[in-house]
Amino acid sequence: MLAIYPGSFDPVTLGHLDIIERGCKLFDQVIVAVLRNPNKTPLFTVPDRIEQIRRSTQHLSNLEVDSFDGLTIDYARMRRASALLRGLRVLSDFEMELQMAHTNKTLSAQIETVFLATSNEYSFLSSSLVKEIARFGGAIDHLVPNHVAVDIYQCFAKTHPASAQTTALAPTPLPLITEPSQEKPLGRE
Ligand code: PNS
Repeated sequence: MLAIYPGSFDPVTLGHLDIIERGCKLFDQVIVAVLRNPNKTPLFTVPDRIEQIRRSTQHLSNLEVDSFDGLTIDYARMRRASALLRGLRVLSDFEMELQMAHTNKTLSAQIETVFLATSNEYSFLSSSLVKEIARFGGAIDHLVPNHVAVDIYQCFAKTHPASAQTTALAPTPLPLITEPSQEKPLGRE
């Protein structure tokens, strides 16, 4: 049985990877499908996001990573998938996810939506939260794979140089830049 796991994955988090790994055990094949969404301004391009997911899932032989635009259900039909896979974190996810599942069911009765409860330790986690923490210089290496954390810090180093100096992945203290006047011994001129 083939399942599609659609999403934005901007960027992929350990919560997504938890769903991907468990999905790969349940289904014969899983396709992670990154939505090309012209209405959103993402942090990462679609090829970047695909690469981040591929790098994080090299150990999964029944996984493919792809991108799509338009309706998820059309992509699922085109790939001859039987199921859409989605993770459920908290109750507030449920309303939106149920609406999507019902809508998709009206578009194709054959394709089922299967929900996996996100593992407890990731129930608070979202891509937006990761980006917000990184933007303000907080540690994110416990929330995303290390290479993704590096990518995020590099992104913010370009747009918000100050946040890059306080990240957990850059624990080595940056050399203090002191004003020349402060370096001079006091009382001497
Ligand atoms: O990771 P996200 O942003 O929660 O994923 C949402 C996604 C991509 C699954 C959803 O927005 C989607 O399926 N978009 C494609 C357009 C579509 O099919 N809309 C109808 C579904 S109700």
